[in-house]
Amino acid sequence: MTRAGVFDSGVGGLSVVKSLLQEKLFEEIIYYGDTARVPYGPKDKNTIIRYALEALEFFKNFDIDILIVACNSVSAYAIKELREVTTFPVVGVIEPGVIALTNKIKDKDANILITGTKATIKSEKYKNLLQDRGYKNIIQKATPLFVPLVEEKIYSGNIVDATMKHYFNDINSIDALVMGCTHFPLIEKEYKKYFPNTLLIHSGNAIVEYLKSTYSLKKNNNKTDIKFYATENPSQLKEVAKEWLGDLG
Ligand code: DGL
Repeated sequence: MTRAGVFDSGVGGLSVVKSLLQEKLFEEIIYYGDTARVPYGPKDKNTIIRYALEALEFFKNFDIDILIVACNSVSAYAIKELREVTTFPVVGVIEPGVIALTNKIKDKDANILITGTKATIKSEKYKNLLQDRGYKNIIQKATPLFVPLVEEKIYSGNIVDATMKHYFNDINSIDALVMGCTHFPLIEKEYKKYFPNTLLIHSGNAIVEYLKSTYSLKKNNNKTDIKFYATENPSQLKEVAKEWLGDLG
């Protein structure tokens, strides 16, 4: 397994790519962001499935060995549909996130907070998978305002603090929190500040662990070759990649 396709609604999936690049699991990554139609988070299930299937048309130009769906909103709704029409493995971020959480939190009475876009929260995918595993105390909270803040490169400060308060004012004693959106790891420090004693689940790190254990992928010595494609304004995607990935990109 050497060439991975990574699909996201836009630039946010670079937070997952960062984890993949740090671990050098692939020789090559083809990144495809649907920047012309971002955000997916406010869209409904059928639209997200349609967009995901259309993205497959793009990946037909490349002989990919695996498709990694970095977008939580797509992972929430379209994995089954993508798998039905592909011959390579399709891996979303939600199952790996749940596995990462359950590996670390054994107490089924633990208080778990899921944050994500409206689509991800509405799908109840994280909640259902956790409940299937016996976890009882799950709070879901759509926190979509964090997406445009990160897009505006506002990673900390008054607006982020106020938004944290706006969403989490009435939430206390959380043992584990899922940053269930590509953009949220960019404000991980702020999450940590607000929830200092809480285990934070990061989709990128979770999927790296999942890929290693499911496909026996190992850390490579060579730097991963990465190519960026976008449905609109690819140069902006490349600029964000430079900022977020630094030397890794
Ligand atoms: N990539 C999306 C996700 O992880 C966030 C941005 C969007 O709404 O498209 O859910």
